[in-house]
Amino acid sequence: MSQPISERVDDPAAKEASGRRKIDWAREHMPILASLREEFEANQPLAGETVGMAMHVEATTAALAETIAAAGAEVAITGCNPLSTHDDVSVALDAHESITSYAERGVDDEGYYGAIDAVLEHDPTITIDDGADLVFRVHEEYPELIDSIIGGCEETTTGVHRLRSMDDDGALEYPMFAVNDTPMKRLFDNVHGTGEASLVSIELTTNLSIAGKTVVVGGYGQCGKGIATKARGMNADVIVTEIEPRKALEAHMEGFRVMPMAEAAAEGDLFVTTTGNRDVITREDFEKMDDGAVLANAGHFDVEINLEHLRDMAEEIVDARDGVRGYVMPDGRQLNVLAEGRLVNLASPVAEGHPVEVMDQSFAIQAVSAREMVENGDDYDAGVHNVPDALDREVAEVKLAAEGVEFDELTDEQREYLDSWQHGT
Ligand code: NAI
Repeated sequence: MSQPISERVDDPAAKEASGRRKIDWAREHMPILASLREEFEANQPLAGETVGMAMHVEATTAALAETIAAAGAEVAITGCNPLSTHDDVSVALDAHESITSYAERGVDDEGYYGAIDAVLEHDPTITIDDGADLVFRVHEEYPELIDSIIGGCEETTTGVHRLRSMDDDGALEYPMFAVNDTPMKRLFDNVHGTGEASLVSIELTTNLSIAGKTVVVGGYGQCGKGIATKARGMNADVIVTEIEPRKALEAHMEGFRVMPMAEAAAEGDLFVTTTGNRDVITREDFEKMDDGAVLANAGHFDVEINLEHLRDMAEEIVDARDGVRGYVMPDGRQLNVLAEGRLVNLASPVAEGHPVEVMDQSFAIQAVSAREMVENGDDYDAGVHNVPDALDREVAEVKLAAEGVEFDELTDEQREYLDSWQHGT
């Protein structure tokens, strides 16, 4: 079983100070969470609850954990990816009197699941996941917790897919909010957050430019659209690959070149996968790529670029740069994979994750969803639920107020008109 991170790292005091600085900076730029924290401190909506979290432990997630703690909860947290934790942030969180952090960067499988188990040993009554690992572990290894868990919240597309599959099989035994599916999350975090953060991480990790490159984006969903659009804005020639005809058509109508990966492989300088699927780039594609091609993944799991095929094909594997592994083929071509094929905007050594403002929105939805689960948990059966629209609007309104943006309100006549089926020409 894992110990809290502050008992495992060298010089915890220095790490705590560095992590604290990062968290304070993030908090300064998260007005929605600041407003919720004020409300939570006054009303203590999570008093007496224990919240287990498995998320990318960086500064913005820390701001969420502190907001949950301010609502009166005990928090136990760990990572949801072996490479995305910022150890200094994890130590700073662990120093909070109501928070225990087990997250550490670079853990192996045993360490990763040991930390998940350590969180579950706190007997959480609410779970907050990014990828649904906590929920699965509860159902597989800690079924005795299910009766006392009120419910949970899931952050990402892949996690929601996994939970819906579980729900379809009748295997999900407590209610879960699909935080990912709210407009305030997916229309901003997935599109703009993943778009900006992935391209920034790729540039910083490689020190290569996007301008002038042929960029191949695998998947034109929310994340893919963000990456493709922003890469075009940075003067790249962008190719999209898809398996869904309407998405392929959408990309085509938005001016991108669309073709199968097997063709795009021969054209691309930079490849970014973001499908939530496996084997998007495989052996037959690697065979066609040019020397120096750069491959990055922004989807949740490290299965989109088939690394087994690459390892098998390579004559030599070199550490070309921090966060860049070069696979040297027998014909001398070197294909460069970033962040071990894990989500590049979080797992690259220089990655910071999404911009703070975007995470303010996503994590505000998490915070109000946790509050809703505790206040009205009896209204939700076991299974996946949409977050009530009123909560999403609440977060949008706080954000607009913080940005100083005013907008119109429906008049009574307009509301009546929109609600009526009797008006015609
Ligand atoms: P989405 O469902 O909107 O889009 C995925 C797209 O990929 C779909 O249009 C689908 O048709 C397409 N696709 C599936 N298999 C394909 C294949 N073999 N080749 C080409 N296209 C294929 O999902 P979304 O929201 O864009 O999320 C994508 C992934 O990114 C998920 O794993 C999600 O969890 C993850 N994600 C990562 C973030 C990050 O910080 N890097 C943030 C948010 C989501």
